[in-house]
Amino acid sequence: MDKIVIQGGVPLKGTVPVRGAKNAALPILFATLLGRGRSVIKGVPYLRDINSAILILRELGMTCERRKDGAIEVEADDDSRFTVPWEQMRKMRASICALGPLLARRRRARVSQPGGCVLGVRPIDLHLKGLSALGADIRNEHGFIDARAERLRGSTVFLGGPFGSSVLGTANTLMAAVLAKGTTVIECAACEPEVADLAGFLSAMGAKIRGAGTPRMEVEGVEDLECCEYTIIPDRIEAGTFMIAAALTGGDVIIEGAKPDHLAALIDVMQQMGVQLSIEDGSIRVRSRGPANSVDVTTLPYPGYPTDLQAQIMAYLSVANGIGVITEKIYPDRFIHIAELARMGARIRKEGPSAIITGVKKLSGAQVMASDLRASASLLLAGLVASGLTEVHRIYHLDRGYERIEERLGSLGAMIRREPEEE
Ligand code: EPZ
Repeated sequence: MDKIVIQGGVPLKGTVPVRGAKNAALPILFATLLGRGRSVIKGVPYLRDINSAILILRELGMTCERRKDGAIEVEADDDSRFTVPWEQMRKMRASICALGPLLARRRRARVSQPGGCVLGVRPIDLHLKGLSALGADIRNEHGFIDARAERLRGSTVFLGGPFGSSVLGTANTLMAAVLAKGTTVIECAACEPEVADLAGFLSAMGAKIRGAGTPRMEVEGVEDLECCEYTIIPDRIEAGTFMIAAALTGGDVIIEGAKPDHLAALIDVMQQMGVQLSIEDGSIRVRSRGPANSVDVTTLPYPGYPTDLQAQIMAYLSVANGIGVITEKIYPDRFIHIAELARMGARIRKEGPSAIITGVKKLSGAQVMASDLRASASLLLAGLVASGLTEVHRIYHLDRGYERIEERLGSLGAMIRREPEEE
């Protein structure tokens, strides 16, 4: 295991390219199970989660190789397999995305029931509601979801839950509907750009989808899909993380390749905080001097403020002027980072689904423990601005979703290095 060591206090300067979106690449890789022939997926970042998806596809009888140019080639070898084992599911919850395509293409899917994680319980009832509406026979036995369907049939299904729409629940239902007989309407579909990108890939394969990226999606089932080449969208959460890093350290950074229209909620929050943002085609320039103004932030389904940027803005609010309140409407327990930020001197009080952050002049470097992917990013951000040395331990969490982040922050002037953990 490695750790990341940061000497805080350096304003970040320069240009950093954004990599492809992890949360678009994962469902799109599983969607290759639906088609005939070879898929070539370009722009896929080098992440632990992507490696997990590649292993699962191979276990499902797909040849799946990363080319020298970074593209991933996928082709079905043996399409008789349909089980995603517990060992893979426990590593990555997004493996649940194999459910829809296996059911649609191989008529059977046996996927280990995903467990909870630091974000909370994370049920899959909406996934199962969508697939049942399309006629799947679903059993839950010995920790496995065992779904079968001779031929899925189009239907209308409402996929809203107590926390709004479900990103991967929409993805699973969409991937099943494209090969179902007849028309499917998904009401309260997730509008995230990553779902729209999955729909883009499916359409490129020959699926007939209307309303991608809106709360109502209409799918006309087809008999067959042909695999193809596809380039995924840039990662808005990675871009947002770099934007906050730039502002937090009082720097001047161009985030290259970011899609500003995917980041409207964060741009709005940062402008309210007094950050200078210039939006150019294909990049976002972030400049800030002096402490920011505190604001209130509520996480919501897209296009609202993303829960995946909640921990990061909390690090920024920790050193802003005044009191800011973050209310987490997607994962009310997603506050594991509060304790570690507090060890660096942040003043944060949790009140139910909200965190009340009283800005302090300075954070102080400390030994901290990474936990979930985005909480780890917030500790890195805090370390960039804290006085003295910060060591972030168990950074394999970070490597799940950020490619070589210490090298890329280092290219912006950060005093940061990766070291092996002492045994
Ligand atoms: C996706 O997870 C993302 N992961 C998450 O990013 C992200 O935080 C989340 O969407 C919300 O934006 C991937 O895309 C791989 P949901 P997903 O279903 O689809 C509840 C990261 O850091 N819910 O949209 O699993 C659920 O408990 C990860 O990259 C149900 O009640 O999330 C939550 O409260 C972390 N029933 C809310 O809905 C269900 O069947 C939204 O969850 C499914 C979800």
